[in-house]
Amino acid sequence: MNTTKQPIAALAVADQAENGRVRSRTDASPHSRGTVSIDGAPIGIENLTKQYGTTTAVSGINLEIRAGEFLSLLGPSGSGKTTLLMMLAGFEFPTEGRLTLGANDITRMAPNKRNIGMVFQRYALFPHMTVRQNIAYPLKMRKVPKVEIPDRVERALAMVQLSGYGDRMPSQLSGGQQQRVAVARALVFEPPVLLMDEPLSALDRKMRERMQIEIKQLQQRLGVTVVYVTHDQEEALTMSDRIAVMGNGCIQQVGTAFELYERPATPFVADFIGKMNFIPSTCVAIGDENVTVRVISDEMIDIPRHQIRVATPPAVGDTLDLAIRPERVGIEKASAGHVRGVGGVVEARAYVGAFQWYIVRLADGTVVHIQSQSGDAGAKNIEEREVVDITFEPAALHVFRGG
Ligand SMILES: Nc1ncnc2c1ncn2[C@@H]1O[C@H](COP(=O)(O)OP(=O)(O)OP(=O)(O)O)[C@@H](O)[C@H]1O
Ligand SMILES: [Mg+2]
Repeated sequence: MNTTKQPIAALAVADQAENGRVRSRTDASPHSRGTVSIDGAPIGIENLTKQYGTTTAVSGINLEIRAGEFLSLLGPSGSGKTTLLMMLAGFEFPTEGRLTLGANDITRMAPNKRNIGMVFQRYALFPHMTVRQNIAYPLKMRKVPKVEIPDRVERALAMVQLSGYGDRMPSQLSGGQQQRVAVARALVFEPPVLLMDEPLSALDRKMRERMQIEIKQLQQRLGVTVVYVTHDQEEALTMSDRIAVMGNGCIQQVGTAFELYERPATPFVADFIGKMNFIPSTCVAIGDENVTVRVISDEMIDIPRHQIRVATPPAVGDTLDLAIRPERVGIEKASAGHVRGVGGVVEARAYVGAFQWYIVRLADGTVVHIQSQSGDAGAKNIEEREVVDITFEPAALHVFRGG
């Protein structure tokens, strides 16, 4: 549990559904007076599957989200992120599996009973209501005593740094301000869990970066559990305690930004997080500690066995893909008649300030992207169409089964 969180005002209720539909709650918050902090609740996801006809949108997901954790769902379009979030919120019911919130089974519980706040991609504020009325609306729905409402709305506004904006209409606010109102409305009833589905995607870069920091700080202060959907990996890397990478309705890997980047479990994750080269090779020997592979031009590389990420142990003759980040590939002018690594030809190069990018084509047609420090002596004066040697840092290679 987060120990740095501070008390916030007891806030109100906003279980708004998509497109501005609002669901009412009749149970008033237990903290309807005074100041409190929100305690996050853990979420359990067991074997969760959602089918739409013949489409499997979410397929057998298992995941434990810790109380107070900021977990991002990151994945390409159509990977099932929104579907998973909708099941957590209760707007969709799973075809199979089980969901728990704290000690409660919420699998088939109505959304308005779950005590979960939600922020959607589009702000979904009521356009005909002022900011104050938007935030007050769910309090009214929960039959919070009228005398308490103005105070609670003001505190909610202050929480998202919009004091003084209560009388404006949503159309008189910037996109970022509208989204902050949506956040205030979702947090106003002190839900232990806040779900956010690409809440910043409509904002420009600068506003998005500011809001990322604000949302993260708010989450830490309140101690609320956040499940945050994004397809922007930088956003996920910046904000999250852990990231679940989704692909084809499945969770491909869950981990910290560091773990996903340094130890990707599958080629999908390796390719999706950051930039990755895949270089075909053939397994030629298997030792106790190392597996030896041959890359084109008979270059042999010994790779520690723990870097081999294949389900079944490789055999001699197997095709294996060597995955390596562009910054872990070395490049040098080919020394005449003496190829020290794998030979290739520079197809393109670009100077990007602190580093240089090279695109090198190997003899078998494989394209390798290389990022080298601008001060790197080996890479000095390399021009396009030049023959180069490239070398792979063995410790930086991840080995997957080739396709
Ligand atoms: N109501 C629905 N009926 C039928 N198919 C659906 C429905 N909702 C989602 N799908 C399908 O389920 C899959 C997952 O969709 P989902 O919206 O969860 O993806 P996503 O990861 O949120 O994508 P995006 O990044 O584009 O928002 C897709 O193939 C989609 O077409
Ligand atoms: Mg989506």
